[in-house]
Amino acid sequence: MTTQDTRSSQPAPAAETGCCGHCAPQDAQPGTTRRTVLGRGAAVAAVGAGSLVLSGCTDEIRAEDTAQDHYVGAARTPALAVSELPVGATTSVEVEGRTLLMHRVDESTVTAYSNVCTHQGCLLQVVDRPEGTAYACPCHGSHFDVETGKPFGGPARQPLMDYEAAIDGDQVVVKL
Ligand code: FES
Repeated sequence: MTTQDTRSSQPAPAAETGCCGHCAPQDAQPGTTRRTVLGRGAAVAAVGAGSLVLSGCTDEIRAEDTAQDHYVGAARTPALAVSELPVGATTSVEVEGRTLLMHRVDESTVTAYSNVCTHQGCLLQVVDRPEGTAYACPCHGSHFDVETGKPFGGPARQPLMDYEAAIDGDQVVVKL
């Protein structure tokens, strides 16, 4: 299952802005999201190769996304409806200009990670593999576990930056 929400209030795709997609546009509205939801068994390319752009903002993003205390005191922000992320599904969600990779582990557990590769900052894709869904880097082949964020099969050595995510009623919420 693949679902795309392309509301007109969304920021321009990374390929159009020349940025990797993490830089919040000036007109971004709080709480707005753009997402692609991937069900189990779906063959996926969540982000087209053309949008995988390394840009001048990568260093800034990397610094921001590796700050372990980035969500201290932050409010919970709705990311998507629980019904849009069934158990076992993996999704790419844009929340307030930041792209998060989210996976529903079980009824009560959701993981959320930055989509910035910890090797050299390329943007990760959600991919289905025979061994299971993973986050894959198109630059040098690192893969990351959707539940733990740990790297495997490539040069990346550090796990993905994680975000606190939870199920709150009918919403999946994250602290940015
Ligand atoms: S930038 Fe991701 S593996 Fe090199």
